[in-house]
Parts: sequence; structure tokens; C-alpha cells
Amino acid sequence: MRHVHPRGLVLKVAVAITGASGGIYARRLMEVIAADEVLLTMTPDGLDVLKFEEKVPGSLEKFDPAVFSPKSRIRYFHYKDYYAPIASGSNAYEGLVIVPCSMNTLGKIAAGISDNLVVRAADTMLKERKKLILVTRETPYSLIHIENMSLVTRAGGIILPASPAFYHHPKNLTDAVDFVVNKILRALGLPSILPEWGK
Ligand SMILES: Cc1cc2nc3c(=O)[nH]c(=O)nc-3n(C[C@H](O)[C@H](O)[C@H](O)COP(=O)(O)O)c2cc1C
Repeated sequence: MRHVHPRGLVLKVAVAITGASGGIYARRLMEVIAADEVLLTMTPDGLDVLKFEEKVPGSLEKFDPAVFSPKSRIRYFHYKDYYAPIASGSNAYEGLVIVPCSMNTLGKIAAGISDNLVVRAADTMLKERKKLILVTRETPYSLIHIENMSLVTRAGGIILPASPAFYHHPKNLTDAVDFVVNKILRALGLPSILPEWGK
């Protein structure tokens, strides 16, 4: 499905996977996302945890996004490729979702560190006042985590913790995952995959 932006542009979304638990959210997001084009990158620890949890094949040098979505229009970029479109402020991407987002990557973003494509792209989204969504995963949070989340929020980012709810009576893991994925889609301004509350 082509999703046409209100300004008539085609919506381009970037997704980054880091080394927190919950690659399943990224996997599901890429199955259902209705953006016209998706750019994917991941940190080395992101790939490591993804492989451990989701048993996906591939390496940082050669990762085939078709493992997520067979009808793939996902373009994969290496985490050190600063020639990727999202490394520059003049890119056409409307939003970046870091899912799952480790406390390490959160801390780097809060500190303005941009030494890989994920945090550089986050830095770029904030400076260009575009959408940055961090699907954070840790428990419990330390004050440092909370302060970092506060700073990123004040800089314009959206902290969207991987916190599934149970009021929609999930029957299986996919239902629970879809709750969080739906929140990400809504935050991006993309169509929901779940019925609207109260309808
Ligand atoms: C199996 C596994 C699960 C992990 N889960 C988390 C997590 O949920 N949250 C987190 O902040 N770090 C988690 N970590 C630790 C991060 O992977 C580690 O801090 C790493 O430096 C993050 O690097 P990145 O931000 O460059 O991806 C986990 C590590 C492993 C091996």
C-alpha cells in the first residue's frame, strides 16, 4: 500500500535495531508498515540480540531484509555507512524508529554522540525537527535512564516504551506485540492495525 503524506509526498520511514531485547517488535513493524519506503540499519549488538532472539540469518555486511518482509521494499544500510540518506539532514525521511532501543543508544543520543548510523540519524532527526521514536526496553530504569529519556523528550523525541497492555485481551504473543507496533504506527501517522478504542 502506498501511503501518501498529507503534503503529497511519499512517506519514507527509517527503522534501526539496537541491542535491547525485543527484535520481535522490529520484525512485526516491518511486516505491517505501510510506508512507501523503509530504510533499515542495526548496530552490531542489535544484530547479535536479534539473531539470539529471532534466529534470523545474515551478518552486518550482508543482511537481507527479506527475512522480515518477503515483498520487501526495505533498503538495508551498514551501521557505519555515513553515505546512507539518513546520515544527512537533507534526507527525505520523515521519521526514524529505533526499535528496540537500548539504554546505551538512548544515552548516546541524549549526549549528542553520533558515532554510528543509528545515533547519527537520531541526531539528524532531532536537529531537523523530524519524528524520532525510541522504543526503549529496560527494567527497572535508573535515574540516568530517566534523565536521558527526559532530555530526548525535551529535544523533540518520542519515548515509546515497549509496554504491551492487556485491556485488549491479547490471545497470543502476536497480539501483545501488535499493541506496541500499533502505537509506533500511530506515532508515525500511519494507518492502525488494531481497531480504534471505543469503536
Ligand atoms: C540477550 C541480550 C539482551 C539485552 N537486552 C537489553 C535490554 O533489554 N535493554 C538494554 O538497554 N540493553 C540490553 N542488552 C545490552 C545491550 O546489548 C548492550 O548495552 C549494548 O552495548 C547495546 O549496544 P547498542 O546500543 O550499540 O546496540 C542486552 C544484551 C543481550 C546480549
